[in-house]
Amino acid sequence: MATRKVTAAPPVMDGVSTPGMPAGVVAAGAAVPDDILTNAELERMVETSDEWIVKRTGIRERRIAPEGIAASHLGVRAARDALGKAGMKPVDLELIIVATVTGDMPAPSTACLLQEKIGAPHAACFDLSAGCTGFLYALSVAGHMVAYGNFSCAMVVGVEVLSRVTDWSDRGTCVLFGDGAGAVIVKPASPGSGILSVHLGSDGGAADLLKIPGGGSLHPASARTVEDGLHTLKMNGREIFTLAVRNMAESVTRALKDAGCTLDEVDCLIPHQANLRIIKSLCGRVGFPMEKTAVNIGEYGNTSSASIPLALVDAEERGMLAAGDLAVLASFGAGLTWGAMVLRWGETDGCTSGGTGDGESAIGEGD
Ligand code: ACO
Repeated sequence: MATRKVTAAPPVMDGVSTPGMPAGVVAAGAAVPDDILTNAELERMVETSDEWIVKRTGIRERRIAPEGIAASHLGVRAARDALGKAGMKPVDLELIIVATVTGDMPAPSTACLLQEKIGAPHAACFDLSAGCTGFLYALSVAGHMVAYGNFSCAMVVGVEVLSRVTDWSDRGTCVLFGDGAGAVIVKPASPGSGILSVHLGSDGGAADLLKIPGGGSLHPASARTVEDGLHTLKMNGREIFTLAVRNMAESVTRALKDAGCTLDEVDCLIPHQANLRIIKSLCGRVGFPMEKTAVNIGEYGNTSSASIPLALVDAEERGMLAAGDLAVLASFGAGLTWGAMVLRWGETDGCTSGGTGDGESAIGEGD
């Protein structure tokens, strides 16, 4: 795999900031498959050890979707959970954006498949691809569309079935990833609440660091691409590590500045769950306490686009995040892409997060 050299003084990549957006998140839902793949089981598949995986990544187990369960199936469960918590029906949705790199199929979009499954006939639907930053990008897009006034209720779903694009013979990647889904409901917010700022960045020059080379228009599916393993994820983890910490820290700082907030005011940091050491390095770099940082990588591994909404739901359930709290979301992923968002959690035009949902949904056969 080609790599991108990281120089001693790499260029600081800039991004785009958006301060003040009168739209916010009213509820979050989540769904994971029932099947658990432990580190002990991975020890029997590749040359690795529970000790190495825990020490280097913080991951103890991950969820794997059974055969026949695709991104839309997981997304439906997360969507229903979020809608239930918001006290809303699918017919109320006017927009559905699904962030994923492992959609059901190249066309149609997973958002349209999910729309049909939940019964949301009034929603405009599309998918968005920004690697593991996909959820943050999609939430930013939905926030803008709601804030602009064309849509009064949107749903953003982050979902991945990474087990389908994992090379199970590559110990450098197969220990990291898992399957899951999360969803949030976005509605208009009053000034000073909801999404306060967003900072997004990308660097296509680092595209080779993480990619799934086959199956697209460059290397369309063929016996040869399958034989060469081009349909599985290739990654240069060490280089991504460095860039992830630096770019997320930069985004967090920029987003806080644009929101007119300081780190001291932040109640909860929700970082992308890729590696516990990356999360600790981010906290160390910006000077934020781990005690106020959402961490669930031990149970789910890296679920890419699903990682932040899964961590959001987890943080709410653990009492780390309540209505009115100031939260910062931060992510990075394939592209490379990265970003951060500052939001006042669950306060939008009189609505608050939480409610009638049944909590995190487990996924079994069918749906
Ligand atoms: N078990 C045992 N040994 C392993 C394993 C494993 N599963 N994987 C690698 N090793 C070995 C390597 O071969 C290497 O051995 P060597 O020294 O004899 O050559 C040694 O462990 C160290 O390898 P490194 O790659 O330097 O290990 P590192 O501490 O960097 O950890 C890791 C690797 C976990 C991948 C880390 O670099 C990382 O998390 N990077 C970020 C990756 C990431 O976040 N990717 C996703 C971003 S986008 C998205 O989320 C889809």
